[in-house]
Amino acid sequence: MEGRALAPNVASTRVRAVRGVDRRRGRGTPSRAPSPKSTSPPASSRPTPVPPRLAATTVDDALADLASLPAQAARLISRSLEPPPPNFPPGPDGDAAVELGADPLAFIVKAQASHGDVVGLRLAGERCVLVSDAEAAKDVLITRSSSFVKEGTAFFPGSSLAGEGLLVSDGDVWARQRRLSNPAFRSAAVNAYADAMASAGAALLAKQWSSRSLRDVYADFNDLTLAIVADALFGADVRGEDARAINGAIRDAFAYFAKRSSVGFVVPEWVPTPDNLAYNGAVAKLDEAVYALIARRRAKRTGAFLGDVSVSAAKEGEANPRMTPRVRWDDAAKDWVLTEASPSAVRFSDSENQTDATSVRAPDLLDRLLDAVDEEGDGAGMDDVSLRDELMTLMVAGQETSAILLSWVCAFLAQHPEVAARCAAEAEAVIGPDPLSDLPTAESYAQLKYCEAVVYEAMRLAPPAYMVGRCCAEDVHVAGYDLPKGTTVLVAPYLLHRDARWWSRPLEFDPDRWRSEALSEYPLKGMGPNGAYVPFGAGPRVCIGTGFAMMEATLLLATVARGVELRLKPGAAPPKPRALITLRPEPFELDVVPRRRR
Ligand code: HEM
Repeated sequence: MEGRALAPNVASTRVRAVRGVDRRRGRGTPSRAPSPKSTSPPASSRPTPVPPRLAATTVDDALADLASLPAQAARLISRSLEPPPPNFPPGPDGDAAVELGADPLAFIVKAQASHGDVVGLRLAGERCVLVSDAEAAKDVLITRSSSFVKEGTAFFPGSSLAGEGLLVSDGDVWARQRRLSNPAFRSAAVNAYADAMASAGAALLAKQWSSRSLRDVYADFNDLTLAIVADALFGADVRGEDARAINGAIRDAFAYFAKRSSVGFVVPEWVPTPDNLAYNGAVAKLDEAVYALIARRRAKRTGAFLGDVSVSAAKEGEANPRMTPRVRWDDAAKDWVLTEASPSAVRFSDSENQTDATSVRAPDLLDRLLDAVDEEGDGAGMDDVSLRDELMTLMVAGQETSAILLSWVCAFLAQHPEVAARCAAEAEAVIGPDPLSDLPTAESYAQLKYCEAVVYEAMRLAPPAYMVGRCCAEDVHVAGYDLPKGTTVLVAPYLLHRDARWWSRPLEFDPDRWRSEALSEYPLKGMGPNGAYVPFGAGPRVCIGTGFAMMEATLLLATVARGVELRLKPGAAPPKPRALITLRPEPFELDVVPRRRR
């Protein structure tokens, strides 16, 4: 079943476009009746509450989907027989969906070798183009980006967990959400999440990796990155004793999500398989927890939440006149900053988790998203549905990719002990010798240049997002070919990153290349320093979490390198890449040997 994810994902693009499903369902007049399980978002003073989005589709939807299957199949067959449009790029004969699905990496390597850098394909009846030319990729992602939409080509599957957030939305909806979300990811904001990253790394060394053992590194990092992103999003609400409900809901929903994305073919969520029912149930519970959390925060921010006064005390539109906003936009700093509470102000308190009821803590992502106001647009903020979708999108987009990256980094360290030793030496010099008590900070990140180079190099050879999809929103002329409106374009970072035209010794793991003059300047700007490095994408849809992910991977690498020696299991080969929706290592274990106890 390896790697079946891509073709169905691409195919679903057109199906969705043809059916014209309202991607912002839940807005205005909802096309679906609320499910009994869904939790109403609470009333809030700003902005207008909207009906909840649904965690699971209804029976009516399922029946409508079923009824449309014959028409979809007929359309698919008739499209498969159509000849390619004029001046379409050449490519393999016939439909390539099965071959691509069976082994995506082997397929794209072969397609490039046989047909060149721009290959015309038919995938499950749809016209697609595989792009591995740096100039053409730049055209699609940056120069002509306005001629393309995501339209279901996102490398993460559409899911009731991620909803209709940034990853999958397009047009004005995407632009507004991106404007509202950007401030939360400016470097000053991201620096505030360093503590959560540092303590999660130290906890891994102190608990799971405290004695010599064979570890499933990917599983360990999956837990770790979920804890980190949840902490960055919800701060104190996912820490401590009282956080069980939200943590439990997050873990359950993600366990099912991970299971769904680790199989090749994703059964649509509306099919009532036992797994789907359990998954939808877990998402409904998470919705309940997240909406309650949003409600509590909104209430606290209007000053209605005082000490142990419950959420129900918050009434719509009743702002507490004594309350000063905790964060505000600072024009000079071009960032959200903490306000000094005035003597009469009600100081913010996480009464359930903090002993100091009047302390002001650093804002988390939820605070920042709640604070954001669309000054270029309608002057309003996010409603609860959008907020929920963005929070879940950030979790989905930021968790697994980071876990994969860290797993690859560890696999490379195990294969290159000399690289691991240099990382450890740099980390000790910058942070201190004891990985359990000398914790890295955002300032250390700026100095961990060799560790950072190791992360860049791991992402070059094993980019978690090995393929990035777009759909032509109009007829487009790219690399000398004509691509009709509706064509899916797949840009392949995996091919760009391993091409001898742009990289010397392309298949060698050599972090020092990132310290050479040619590559050291702004590795992540545009298409990269040599025009062919895009692990986080490029252009307006570039990963919003780039800074977060780079800091997280570098700080954790610095922690791990100081704390343990990583070795391949005796007799085991290094893990091979496994292309699913993302590029994971095949399941593997490493021999984790704590340094302090040798
Ligand atoms: C190693 C870690 C990561 C990798 C390799 C990665 C990769 C990517 C790539 C390639 C894209 C662009 C997709 C496209 O152009 O179609 C993207 C988009 C996105 N990523 Fe990441 N990502 C990572 C971590 C994160 C983190 C930590 C977050 C948030 C906490 C995040 C949130 C997002 C979001 C919201 C988008 C959609 C942006 C938009 O379309 O406006 N990612 N990511």
